[in-house]
Amino acid sequence: MKFPEGFLWGASTAAHQIEGGNVNSDWWQREWGHLPGPPVESPSGDAADSYHRYPEDMALLAHAGLRAYRFSIEWARIEPEKGWFSRAALDHYRRMIGTARDLRLEPVITLHHFTNPVWFARDGGWRTDASVDAFRRYVEGVLPLLDGVDLVCTINEPNMVSVLADPEVGFPSVGLPPGIPAVTDRLIAAHRAAVDLVRSAGARAGWSVATQAYQPEPGAEAVAAAYGASREDVFLDAAEGDDWVGVQAYTRTKIGPDGPLPIPHDAERTLTGWEYYPPAVGEGIRNAWRRAKTPVYVTENGIATADDDRRIDYTTGALEAVLACIQEGVDVRGYLHWSALDNYEWGSFRPTFGLIAWDPETFERHPKRSLDWLGRVAQANAL
Ligand code: BGC
Repeated sequence: MKFPEGFLWGASTAAHQIEGGNVNSDWWQREWGHLPGPPVESPSGDAADSYHRYPEDMALLAHAGLRAYRFSIEWARIEPEKGWFSRAALDHYRRMIGTARDLRLEPVITLHHFTNPVWFARDGGWRTDASVDAFRRYVEGVLPLLDGVDLVCTINEPNMVSVLADPEVGFPSVGLPPGIPAVTDRLIAAHRAAVDLVRSAGARAGWSVATQAYQPEPGAEAVAAAYGASREDVFLDAAEGDDWVGVQAYTRTKIGPDGPLPIPHDAERTLTGWEYYPPAVGEGIRNAWRRAKTPVYVTENGIATADDDRRIDYTTGALEAVLACIQEGVDVRGYLHWSALDNYEWGSFRPTFGLIAWDPETFERHPKRSLDWLGRVAQANAL
């Protein structure tokens, strides 16, 4: 089963989850109790020390046969004080882009992946109107980096940013809190401004949405549609007119007449507690294509597991679903696995999503069999 010619194969990461020492970000500050938020199991600390070890990480991906590396540039490092841009931090990310190019890895750049500078959070973050201009100024500041970059993701999972924007609102036992409408509007405005800027730099702009594969029980179709509206669909609709849209899929949520249903007791669960459900990505792709009407890239898909055979099995199922979409005529252009490395899963290092493990004391990298496997799929461009 062949993928289309030029299909982009790669793996993804996010700065805060792998770099280490991201001390000026709101997440670091929350982890240590300096900003409000629920307590975490462990702080991010040195994470995978990829801030220093990125050449080795990229080389492992390239040598396995992958052709793209999606990573984020860290606003909290680039603009540590409001209006002051660090040349050294910009240079760091310029070197990363150069290293990827030297290794023949297409750099896919995320401008915002959950974390903000402390000053932005203290000013009220996405809960204030000033956030849109602040983000626009940041994007203007990073435009010189984007020279020669093809794919730029403005904001990672704006829907998760919106549902989590109020630190007082906790997660329900099933499903997600609703998106906060004013935050959603600001994220869309910030995205639109960023799309124009990114295009002016010659890159193709889009954003990546966490698709949840909401599945109605018979009779609960309207409930599921209403449930998905603020949590997913509004963000896919807003991607219409973009150069591409990113799908990030992990599991499904069944919806009954009263809303989301708990995962059945006998279902297999991953280390994040989510149902093992490889076809989720296909449902995300179809919803994104139907709404955004623009080429789709899977910018994240993967599984938290200690059993690498399950990772290969999950990814095989997911890629079969991607192929089914392509056969139906959906314009899917690439697959970037989450994640290149085991990483900081927003509060804990226990859920291991990586194609590469590392030693917590020496940071020595240990590629898993799944990396080799995905690299061979990429080289064959076939499953
Ligand atoms: C995020 C990643 C996260 C992954 C697994 C996505 O929500 O973009 O940062 O690690 O899913 O939870």
